[in-house]
Amino acid sequence: MDKLNILLDSTLSALKKLTTLTTLSDLETKTIGRKGELTEILKTLKDLPEDQRKEFGQAANETKKTLETAFAEKRSELETIEMNKKLETETCDITEPGIKPKVGSVHPLSKVQWEVENIFSQMGFSIMDGPEIESEYYNFEGLNIPSYHPARDMQDTFFIDKQADEKHGRLVLRTHTSPVQVRTMQKYGAPLRIIVPGRVFRYEATDASHDTTFDQVEGLLVDKNISLAHLKGVLEEFLTRLFGKKVTVRFRPGYFPFVEPGLEVDFSCLLCEGKGCRVCKHSGWLEFMGAGMVHENVLKAGGIDPSVYQGWAFGFGLTRLVMMRYGIDDIRLLKSSDPRFLQQF
Ligand code: DAH
Repeated sequence: MDKLNILLDSTLSALKKLTTLTTLSDLETKTIGRKGELTEILKTLKDLPEDQRKEFGQAANETKKTLETAFAEKRSELETIEMNKKLETETCDITEPGIKPKVGSVHPLSKVQWEVENIFSQMGFSIMDGPEIESEYYNFEGLNIPSYHPARDMQDTFFIDKQADEKHGRLVLRTHTSPVQVRTMQKYGAPLRIIVPGRVFRYEATDASHDTTFDQVEGLLVDKNISLAHLKGVLEEFLTRLFGKKVTVRFRPGYFPFVEPGLEVDFSCLLCEGKGCRVCKHSGWLEFMGAGMVHENVLKAGGIDPSVYQGWAFGFGLTRLVMMRYGIDDIRLLKSSDPRFLQQF
């Protein structure tokens, strides 16, 4: 009992003199903590005669409660003092401007791709995807590109050292979005109206206007009684909506194995509106894409009967369109991930 009273008195008087929260915690641990002095005193309980144990136990409990209350009171007193000190010494300037978070922007390729998708969706076209790692079959044979065609050369195409399967030849990084034509015809049959935006790959030396990776948009329409007049109408409507002013389109003969007849498509120069300027090299026209009536071998590869259905297809460089739209003079900027470039859009 004496020990309890001594602990109580000495702790209370030590407590009075404390001025910091850390010394308060130290004292608390030392006295009523789990391994503290009170616990030590309680260990003597078992040495007491039975009849004194209860009384001693109660006294110890009370001592503990009294001390706990005293510690809690002192703690809140010290907390208030420390808070007031902080309020006096620390200042907060609520008029100071905040730290601006960095905000990203939509990549110009995505922006234009979304616009293209919107316009074609409104004309009833579905948007398709295809694999970037493609088989030789879909990239070439299915599109009527014979094995002696220069595009089949190792100089132009990234070949992967692996077979697709027996029937479809080796694997390649697709060199154009055209393979999705046959894939989609096989899957959905005719009639069909699709566009296919996507990345394509060429084994090429890079410079300001060539990159190994760029983006194309393929178009394919298959139905009954389809002619190039429909293609011209769709393309003029598309470009006029895209650029927000009247654009005209002209067809020139061109060769692509997967179309017959094949076309090169130009559109009227946006800057001079056909009069001739530096941008269009004084011709009034800008070269835009390849197109044509889908070759019957391609329709057959897609499982479509060419005596019932016809179609046209086109393919243009989305990357080139973006460069034209924003006046970007180096293709490599587009994949550079350079924020100084990207933040401009
Ligand atoms: N695939 C061709 C290329 O990458 C572009 C092209 C030309 C696509 C004519 C077509 C087409 O669908 O009909 O150069």
